[in-house]
Amino acid sequence: MERTLVMVKPDAVRRKQVGEVIRRFETAGLTIRALKMVCLDRRDAEGFYQVHRERPFFASFTQFMSSGPTVAMVLEGPEAISRVRQLMGATDPARAEPGTIRRDLATSIEQNVVHGSDSPESATYEIPYFFSALELCPYEREPN
Ligand code: CMP
Repeated sequence: MERTLVMVKPDAVRRKQVGEVIRRFETAGLTIRALKMVCLDRRDAEGFYQVHRERPFFASFTQFMSSGPTVAMVLEGPEAISRVRQLMGATDPARAEPGTIRRDLATSIEQNVVHGSDSPESATYEIPYFFSALELCPYEREPN
């Protein structure tokens, strides 16, 4: 079993696409282990994305990530990290495969609807950024 941190970004929350994004992950068989809506301030967004701090898009991107609510969740399943990344599609929606979340819903490389951890190391940093151990609820999910 593997866990990954997923965020529905402020662009998709504003466009009422939260349900559609979560539906795709649930339909693919991933288990929602924790979930909440949060409003990141600029410093929260900078801390979460600190690995990108030297990138030219960092200021604009962290401003966008603090422009409205984000829905954060922990998804769990075998190879959850790579499966979520497949379902999301490439970072740039123009390069994402048809049928992926970003190809279908995203408007730009910056406002690309969804984030998912890119490695087990990233997930280890990102999951506790949002969730305490108390919020990661164990339960049995019914089969699809
Ligand atoms: P995400 O998977 O959340 O990780 C870092 C984010 O930075 C990425 O998705 C994009 O939303 C954003 N990003 C990556 N490249 C660019 C770029 N060239 N211009 C603007 N934003 C970018």
